[in-house]
Amino acid sequence: MVKAVYPGSFDPVTNGHVDIIDRASKVFDQLIVAVLENPRKTPLFSIEERVKMLNRIIDRYPNVEVDYYRGLLIEYSRKRGAKIIIKGLRAISDFEFEFQMALVNRKLDCDVETLFMMTNNKYSYISSSIVKEVASYGGDIKDLVPREVYPDIMEKIVLLKS
Ligand code: PNS
Repeated sequence: MVKAVYPGSFDPVTNGHVDIIDRASKVFDQLIVAVLENPRKTPLFSIEERVKMLNRIIDRYPNVEVDYYRGLLIEYSRKRGAKIIIKGLRAISDFEFEFQMALVNRKLDCDVETLFMMTNNKYSYISSSIVKEVASYGGDIKDLVPREVYPDIMEKIVLLKS
């Protein structure tokens, strides 16, 4: 059985993330969508909110689960018995940092492989930061995020502005 971890901040989950989840769920027997709880960053959504939103999306995938981790991804992958880390690549600009992270992770544990999945070009311009920025200025983000989480994002943006 091949188990993979798809890690990220998912602050919030976008259609680009869902595309990777959908495709990776068809390649691996089990996929763990792992949300990083990073004490050094102040996310828009709490870890509980991000996990809750992702859980709504993965409902239709029997071989996908959502979890969260703190600390090193490689330690989390090892703890969960996952030998594959799956990362989405949107553009060349993503590559340099992702390459560095993959090499660091391999240095830390050479038994865990990082595999890259190219984004569907429909989503190559979408990122969580872009979604937050567009929404905060009143732009329409309906086509950028899954409909299951759109109300949560809008509610948070309204709260921030009030
Ligand atoms: O969605 P993001 O923020 O681009 O995801 C980055 C993430 C969470 C995958 C990465 O920062 C991570 O796993 N951090 C945990 C700490 C770690 O393992 N660092 C070593 C690799 S550089």
